[in-house]
Amino acid sequence: MTIKKDISQKANYLNNPEAKGLRSWIFTTDHKRIGLLYMYCMVSFFIVAVFLGFLMRLELLAPGEQFISAKVYNQTFTLHGVIMIFLFIVPGIPAIFGNFFLPLQLGAEDVAFPRLNLLSWWVYVVGAIMALLSLFSRTALNSLALRVGNNGTDTHPAIMIARSAITQ
Ligand code: HEM
Repeated sequence: MTIKKDISQKANYLNNPEAKGLRSWIFTTDHKRIGLLYMYCMVSFFIVAVFLGFLMRLELLAPGEQFISAKVYNQTFTLHGVIMIFLFIVPGIPAIFGNFFLPLQLGAEDVAFPRLNLLSWWVYVVGAIMALLSLFSRTALNSLALRVGNNGTDTHPAIMIARSAITQ
């Protein structure tokens, strides 16, 4: 019983009195915390993508246009696919499991370049936010967007996400 109590009171990456609050998380270089940051973000983006998937399902419930135009449907479709693949599937295993478990399995203190590891998470999050903003891009991002055909799909944010996914 005493041993159990000692372990739970020892400062660790979750329960460290010197590293509390949001700032200590988003500026951490601890591989376990970065792994968890990826996990929280990926689950959030996954929920957004599932929501877009349900929007499409609702739109396709009956023939013809229900509540979103063909153009918005195409944007929804593109973002759903891009989020699922580049923000969820591709970085999922390397970013979460690679960050959290691999150094522990190797007995290493951390990954080789902890600050670069944190920068990678920041690039991922900023790329993801830009991608999400592309749904509403009629202003700032629009001037950067490369228009393909006439379906209103902004490929620039998609390229940003692909780039951030590759930096994992
Ligand atoms: C891990 C990857 C993916 C997951 C987990 C996923 C999940 C989902 C879910 C839950 C729905 C709602 C389905 C329904 O209620 O019937 C949906 C719909 C849809 N998804 Fe995905 N999706 C993924 C990848 C993709 C990709 C890569 C594309 C295409 C680029 C795509 C295109 C669509 C389309 C067109 C729909 C609407 C079709 C329909 O509901 O009949 N999905 N997806």
